[in-house]
Amino acid sequence: MMRNRGRPVAALVSSLALVWSFLALPAAAQAAPPPPTLAATPPMGFNNWNAFGCDVNERLIKETADVLVSSGLKDAGYRYVNIDDCWSLRERGPDGRLVPDPAKFPGGIEGVADYVHDKGLKLGIYGDAGTKTCAGYPGSLGHEELDARTWADWGVDYLKYDNCNNQSDGSQEDYIRRYTAMRQALDKTGRVIVYSICEWGTSQPWTWAKGIGHLWRTTGDISDNWASLRSIIRQNAPLAPYAGPGHWNDPDMMEIGNGGMTATEYRTHMSMWAMMAAPLIIGTDLRTASAETLSILGNRALIAIDQDRLGVQGAVVSDENGLMVLDKPLANGDRAIALYNSTDTLATVSVATAGTGLRPAGAYRLTDVWSGAETQVKSTISAGVPAHGTVVYRVRPLRDPAHVAPAVAVGAELGTVVPGPTGGGTLTTTVTNRGVGTIRDLSVAAHVPEGWTAAPLSSAERARLATDTTLRTTWRLNVPAGTPAGHYPVDITASYRWGPRHRPATTSSQIIATVVTAPEDGRRHLSTISPVTSANATGPVEADQSNGGALENDGNLITIAGHVYQRGLGTTTGSELRYYLGGRCSRLVTDVGLDDEAQGGPATFTVYADDTAAATSGPVAAGEAPKPLTADLTGAAWLRLVAESPTSGTHTDWAKPVLTCGDVPDDSPILPQSQTLFSFESGTEGFTIANPGDGGTVTQSPSFHTEGANGLAVSTPVAGNWFGRTLAAPVDLSGRTMLKFDLKAGDVGTVGEIAVQVGESFTWCQGGLWTWTNPHSSRTVTERFDQISCPVGVTLDRSDIRAVWVFLNTGGEVLIDDIRAE
Ligand code: GLA
Repeated sequence: MMRNRGRPVAALVSSLALVWSFLALPAAAQAAPPPPTLAATPPMGFNNWNAFGCDVNERLIKETADVLVSSGLKDAGYRYVNIDDCWSLRERGPDGRLVPDPAKFPGGIEGVADYVHDKGLKLGIYGDAGTKTCAGYPGSLGHEELDARTWADWGVDYLKYDNCNNQSDGSQEDYIRRYTAMRQALDKTGRVIVYSICEWGTSQPWTWAKGIGHLWRTTGDISDNWASLRSIIRQNAPLAPYAGPGHWNDPDMMEIGNGGMTATEYRTHMSMWAMMAAPLIIGTDLRTASAETLSILGNRALIAIDQDRLGVQGAVVSDENGLMVLDKPLANGDRAIALYNSTDTLATVSVATAGTGLRPAGAYRLTDVWSGAETQVKSTISAGVPAHGTVVYRVRPLRDPAHVAPAVAVGAELGTVVPGPTGGGTLTTTVTNRGVGTIRDLSVAAHVPEGWTAAPLSSAERARLATDTTLRTTWRLNVPAGTPAGHYPVDITASYRWGPRHRPATTSSQIIATVVTAPEDGRRHLSTISPVTSANATGPVEADQSNGGALENDGNLITIAGHVYQRGLGTTTGSELRYYLGGRCSRLVTDVGLDDEAQGGPATFTVYADDTAAATSGPVAAGEAPKPLTADLTGAAWLRLVAESPTSGTHTDWAKPVLTCGDVPDDSPILPQSQTLFSFESGTEGFTIANPGDGGTVTQSPSFHTEGANGLAVSTPVAGNWFGRTLAAPVDLSGRTMLKFDLKAGDVGTVGEIAVQVGESFTWCQGGLWTWTNPHSSRTVTERFDQISCPVGVTLDRSDIRAVWVFLNTGGEVLIDDIRAE
């Protein structure tokens, strides 16, 4: 039965083929039909790097292949399972070939390839156009042919080719040479292999790599945070003219699901990658991915836009004030239009249909790719888009708009909100009918958090709202006194009726209210007060340390021309910090200067009381002594600290800034108050070594100190020892919340810990917080009392501290100072 059914089908296929070649001959003369373009649409798949880094192995790759199939992502189009850096041994084999690490890939790459191919998937590998990969494994420069042949022999279908250790003179010619060498080597293998050029946009590959690679990275590495996503979109979006079937801009692998961004941001990630016809390479652990992650990655409407066979990257049709509109033509004549809001607040993003590639029509149908909702517009596509959000519509002309709901855009603006009867805030809402036909019985409501009120100061209702008209309403918000500073959602809902049958409908948007509160009375270290907004060139602004690098908490103690500070703000130019004062503060006193950790500058520091420059440093050069500034803030609602420089990213310190608020004497204590236990000004202050047999010494030393002129130099044994002393009399630290000391590491890193002995039994209570530091780096080691643990049955009685110790190890000299309670 089976055999009988099989044969005629085969015969039919071959006779059709015969007819085709016969008919094709005269028209095409001798020319062969063009081969199907490889990567005719942007490649889709998975790569382990973003979620696992070097921690790659056979099991991960196989299990990921399993999940691609079982989750339906394979059916949605994800095909390539790509292995990134660190898959090989550190040395080539005796035959010169790359060798898969047998601990990670016991079945070899060939084994994984077979497994993946059996599932109908394809396998990708990673190499480098340099002497070593980025993680230090063998690179392919000078070994192109052998490596390409090796990969082809193993059954590899995709090569990501990196750019570390490239021995390059930096010229574009050199980039073209190195990447073409691998192109030719891949061609020689005869195997069909997608070629992904990864040189981070360095040599503008979009200008030369078409015809060499199927895709090329356009930017540095993505990371799982909003600033990275926003910056990559900004760089990749303008490159639309360079993309097309078989040659794509690659803004890097996706971070969706890795936890560093909100769902709104991950939806923007997926939306903008699809609009930019970007390769969709999943970079999260699919085996543990949430339903939400899978639904974002599996959005079929967006995948269809990304994979559309026309193969055109969406063009930027407008880009103003952080609001961007992209327009992507699709093969069936539809267009995908994205409204992207990169700002930090709700915004109405709009585009006239005449400003897009849509052909003129009386109306257009919009299909929202996330909700599936269908609406119609007359001539403007517009929506209230949340902060960091993106709305994508699939759009086509519409002949009869009467039966499709009109698109209604709900927008809002809201400044900062101050709690209490004299405070409040002003909310402005806008509702705009963009559809063909009047909407009726419109009413707008603002849903505020419990205890708040929102009262309209102008009408929030309209009997009829015609096409392209707006109802604008101003609202007075009242927020109960005592509401903590923070972010609170306010939902705006427009309810109305539409069409001949007066059908009810609603449209909503959410705006985030920022509640600010003035500092309490007293003199306070500014580094202990949260700014309302904080902008910085390199990573976050750091409190009580210099800026360091791009990560949080990666600075050193603030150091200006050798002067070390325990308190302050580490920024890089151009930075701006805004604090709400509510007219309640009088003065800011601070030192300013360039941090010794990095050169740059000169830089200018300005303290603004509202819009008035209340103090300014003038240009400060690297190595210059700290400059004192005093700013009169009387009556100001806002304090702003601005550091500027012709060299962006100069390390600028606000050292020991103290803010005075309310009516307090000039000599009132600076809060939070701290009590010095040991300052080493009079010698080693009786410091001893807990376990003398284990080694170590202590000496007073002027070479590192925070307050005063001296600190303590400790030579530590490699395995560590406790340094400290039994106190002459018990010390009462009740009311204090933490212990601190300042530390500078020697030639090697070190570990700091604090312990106290309490009560008559001198019971040891010690913290579990170990702080690793890099050689020569300095920082304040902090241990909260509630993180210090005592033996079972003992409570840490802060009023009866009998001895204080610090633990230091790794060998060599460690400098410490100012052991204190705060
Ligand atoms: C570079 C690439 C990354 C990743 C790593 C691996 O940084 O850009 O995508 O492949 O190397 O070391």
